[in-house]
Formats: sequence, structure tokens, C-alpha cells
Amino acid sequence: MDKKKFKRTLVTAALPYANGPIHLGHLAGAYLPADIFVRFKRLKGEEILFICGSDEHGVPITITAEKEGVSPKVIIDRYHEMNRKAFEDFGMSFDNYSRTSLPIHHKTAQEFFLKYYENGILKQKKELQYYDEKAKMFLPDRYLVGTCPHCKSEDARGDQCENCGSYLNPTDLINPKSKITGETPVLKETTHFYFPLGDYQERLEKYIAEKDAQEGWKENVLNYCKSWFQEGLQDRAVTRDLDWGVKVPVEGFENKVLYVWFEAVLGYISSTKEWAEKQGKPEEWRKFWQDNETKYLAFIGKDNVVFHCIVFPAMLMSWNDLSEEKYILPDNVPANEFLNYEGLKFSKSRGWGIDLKDFLEHFPPDPLRYYLASILPENRDTDFYWRDFQAKNNNELADIFGNFVNRTLTFTAKHFNSQVPEIKKLSEIDQELLRQLPEFKEKIETLYERIKIKDALNETMNLARLANKYFNDSQPWKTIKEDLDACATTINLSLQLIRTLAIMLSPVIPFTSERIFKILNIKEDELKIWEFCTETKLKAGHKINQPEIIFNKIDDKTIEPYLKSQEKSETKKSVTPDNSDKIDIDEFKKVEIRIAQVIECEIIPRSKKLLKLKVDLGFEQRQVVAGLAEFYKPEELVGKKVLIVSNLKEVKIMNELSQGMILAVEDKNNNLKLVSVDESLPLGSILR
Ligand code: MF3
Ligand code: ZN
Repeated sequence: MDKKKFKRTLVTAALPYANGPIHLGHLAGAYLPADIFVRFKRLKGEEILFICGSDEHGVPITITAEKEGVSPKVIIDRYHEMNRKAFEDFGMSFDNYSRTSLPIHHKTAQEFFLKYYENGILKQKKELQYYDEKAKMFLPDRYLVGTCPHCKSEDARGDQCENCGSYLNPTDLINPKSKITGETPVLKETTHFYFPLGDYQERLEKYIAEKDAQEGWKENVLNYCKSWFQEGLQDRAVTRDLDWGVKVPVEGFENKVLYVWFEAVLGYISSTKEWAEKQGKPEEWRKFWQDNETKYLAFIGKDNVVFHCIVFPAMLMSWNDLSEEKYILPDNVPANEFLNYEGLKFSKSRGWGIDLKDFLEHFPPDPLRYYLASILPENRDTDFYWRDFQAKNNNELADIFGNFVNRTLTFTAKHFNSQVPEIKKLSEIDQELLRQLPEFKEKIETLYERIKIKDALNETMNLARLANKYFNDSQPWKTIKEDLDACATTINLSLQLIRTLAIMLSPVIPFTSERIFKILNIKEDELKIWEFCTETKLKAGHKINQPEIIFNKIDDKTIEPYLKSQEKSETKKSVTPDNSDKIDIDEFKKVEIRIAQVIECEIIPRSKKLLKLKVDLGFEQRQVVAGLAEFYKPEELVGKKVLIVSNLKEVKIMNELSQGMILAVEDKNNNLKLVSVDESLPLGSILR
């Protein structure tokens, strides 16, 4: 690992949609870890650029706009400003926070598109798509409603039926209607450009293997990529029939825009260009994007892996094949898993979760930064719990770190006239402490370099614990009477430790560290950097300012309203269940899943997807209709043991009775595979 030496680092954080407020889940996924990492690198004095901005195109934005009866511009202006401000208040230290609606971005995205287009990289494909003649527009999948071909629910969307969960194509819908006008849409021919992602598969696999060998990619990220490769990469449409977005710069295609993902990733580049222009050095962006000595890290949440590890690198590779100007590719993509809120997924529609803006109206940013950093979903999903937030603030920030700072400062004010006392002798405890400091520094540094933010913070807090213990063991309240020199040493080293910890914790709690530097009366930048953080830089006689309490405890009363509002939200939830949410055990127990064996199987004529099966449950035989025809031939299924939900209400599908549902798993391309069952299990066995 770390074989290559770099001169500088480029860090990007996923561009959030300007379609709603940033919530705590977003912070833990990508923004906070990126910010902590960047701040650490700056502490070390390294050259680093931190880039972000709003993602301002895409269908969800136009849907929100329509719902409110305003233009998309109104929506993006509102949320861009709201999120920019919330990020700033939270201490996000972006060097630039741009927007993809800016001309510089449109120009950059079109330049990429044209490069591919003019060099014959893109394929054109004709296809039939639903068109709303009244609204005069092609309808994206989500703009279509109709009857689900599987469960007959009447409000299935063009991309999915929420009732039975099946993925749909718009043309699967029975009796489709436009969401915009309510009219029946017509099928109309349209042409789109496709990027030949499949052509890059081999090079992409090699690229990821090489970067992993150098940087040590995260296991979860490698696994996501692997499953994409296993399924085989497909051509991807890079244009859409919409008018909100970056226009396709080709004659005859003026009514189309670039697919939002195709252009959004290029937003990193255009944001860097904007930064360079603001610096008055418009060419400076190339240093970060087109120099092999720059290391590029892309911080994202797990839902964005394919775009950053596969699509974006392929786009850059393709550009590099065609141009003298060569872009660097991500050296690492440290994607996090998700943060949940009190045990459930954040959900805007159900009012589940809390926005950053609202949070910061009631609490200062540092306790939140600290808490989130301590529970980052680096390897698995984690949860924000108010009780836990309160406990970490009170028991760790206030009781460990805050207490150490406070007792040291008050002692200094009271007994040493607010001056750093002189060291005349070192006891064994003192020496042991001094010996350990550089070890901590090195350990923490290594963890940060490997982007193990949670571990780095944990190790730093271990030092804060040690500091407290040192103060206790040294008993300055005793030695002040019995051994003044020993007492002076204890207080001197404790003050030094406050500075050490303020520096070490500054990536996580930057506002508090600044306050501590003020109280310690430290002005020189040299005394705030990583390099000298464990050295005893405070001189004897140095005057310090009045102590202040740096962390307030959070009492039960303060968090009660949030716990209450959740109870309300939870009852709301039971009225409108959400498929994606968790259920309690009693609900699960209602579902009866049994082992069955397929004994007969045939295709249902006139249906593309359906198979009719006879299954044996041991105690009885049943007929089941399953949407498996695209994935299995009837003869492949006969004799197989499968899992079936055996207590579903009977339904008729295409005039055939279905008395249960076979369990299958769906991969990313919507292919279904049966859940395999140990062949020795007896028929009819119930799953528990
Ligand atoms: N807007 C997307 C999201 O919030 C992320 C875009 S990342 C980018 O999931 F690279 F495309 F900009
Ligand atoms: Zn359905």
C-alpha cells in the first residue's frame, strides 16, 4: 500500500441534489468524513483541494417543481442556498461549492459529450417511448401510472409497482396514463445516444485492481464493483427526452438533454474550473485534474458506487484515448454505507429524520460532528439515536475532554496566576506520558491516511482519557501543598496536552479547537499544526485567558421533543406502510414461508414473463403463477426445491389461479434468481 508518492490531493464529495434539505444521513455518508480528512491534510500542511456543489438537474427536481407549480429554477435556487448555508454552518470547508446549472458546467459537459460524439464513440438507438400529446413531451418512467400487470394494483409507476414491488418497464403498464395531464400517452419513436460502457469492462477491472493494490480500497466498494462486472457492463443511454438539463449539443437533438448522471460527475471538474477562475488563475484546475502527481479521492455514499467507480472512470478513459489532455482517475472511492435514524431509514415523505438546518437551529455543530464521526457507517449501516447523541456529548465530550480542559485551566488560573508554570523536574509518570505522545501521533496519523476516520477519532479520545488519568494520578491538588515543583510540571504538561488535543481534534470539532486556541492565547499558526502537536511548545510564563466551559451537557428535556415527534411519526407510519422500512417481529410472524418442490411447470401463452407451476408442499399441492419466464426455462425448474409464501390470499393472474409466491432474489439488472434451498430439507417445513 501507499507505493506511490503524490504531490497534492484532490477531494470531491458527491454533489447533493438541490431538491431537498441535507439531512444527517447525507453527512455521515460522504460529507463529514471528507471534511475531516481534508482538514487533517491541511493540518499537515499538504496541498489539497476540496470540491463540491449542487446537482441541479434530473427528474426528481422537475417533479418537485410541478408539484409546487413553480419552475425548476425556483426549486434549485431554494435548496442550493439552503444547503450551501447549512454546510457552512456545519463547518464544511469546501474550497468551492458550485452548481451544475452554471454555464461553466453546461459547457464542460457538452465538451465531453461532443468529444465522444465526434469520435464516433456513442451509438444511436431508436426506441419507442410514451409521449404525452397534450403536454407535448416524452414521459420519463416515473411520469407514467397504470395498472400493474402482476398484482393489478392501479397506481403502479412506469418504473416500479410499489404494491407488489416488481420492477416494470413503462410498456408493461396496463392502461397507462400520463401523470402530468392524465391523458393516455401514445408510443412514439425517439432516438438516444448510448455510451458503450461494456467496451471498457476489461480496462475498468484492471484499473480498480491496480488502484486497490496501491491504496487499499474498501471491501464493500470492491464487492459492489465485482457484482457489476459479474453481470457484465451494458451500453448506457446518456440522453433523455426532457427540457430541464444540459442540452444535447447536436443538430436535431435540441429537445433532449444529457442524462443527469452523465453530466453530474463532470460537475466535479466544472466546480474546479470555477474555483480556478475565482482564484484569478483560470488554468489552475488542470493541476488537480490533469497531473499524475495529484491523488484523487471521491467521497460518496454506497448508492453512488457504480457511477464513481465504473461510469465516471470509463468516461475519463474514453476522453484520454481521444485527447492530449489526460485526466487522472479516482485513486480511491471511500464510499460509506448508510446512516439510519432511530432504527429506520431516513424518509422525507414520512417526516422521518432530521435536516441539518433544523438541527443547527438547536444545537452547535461540534457535538453533532463528533457524534456522527464516532458512528460513521464506514463498514456497515449505523444509526443516529438521540439518546446516544446525548450520551456521547455528555459522557465523552463534556466529561472526558471538556472536563480535562476545564480542570486544568481553572487550576492554572487559581494557583499559577493564569501562567504556564515552569518544569523543574520530571517524575516517572511525566516521562511515561511524554514517551507515549509521539506514539499516539503516529497511530492517529496512519489511521487518517487510511481514511479510517472513526478509528482515528477513537484513538484521539484514548489520548484524552489518558490525559484525564494523568491529571488524576498526578494529584496536583495535593502536590500544590506538598511538592510545588511536581505540581508545576503536572500543570505545564496538562496545558501542553490541551494544545495537543485541540490540534488533534480540530478536524472533527474545528469550532471548539479554535475556542481553545483563544483561551490558551495561541496566535501563531505554527502552534496549531500537526507537525509540532505533541511537542511542549507552550513556554513557561506564557499567559492564558479566562477559562470557559467548552461543552454544555444536553439534558433530557432538550431532546424530549425529538423523541416525542418520533412517536407521532411512528403512528403515522402504520397508516401508510412503506415497503422499504423495517417491520416488527409480529408482522414478520404473519408471513408463512415453506419449503416446496416444483413438480410441473409450463409457460403461460401470451405472456412474456409468467410461468405456471405446480408445487408440492408435502401436505398439499398448489398452483402458483410466477414472473420467472425470462429467467428460467420450465424444465429447469421441475424437481427444484424452492421457498414459497404459503399463506397469501389467492389471486388470479392472466386468468390463472395463483396460491402462493415463490421467493427469488433480484440482481442489479432486474434479473431474478431463485433462493436455493438445502435439498435435504423436508417439504412443508416452515421458515423461522
Ligand atoms: N446527486 C447525487 C446524489 O445525491 C449524487 C451525484 S454525485 C455526482 O445521490 F458525482 F454525480 F455528482
Ligand atoms: Zn404490482
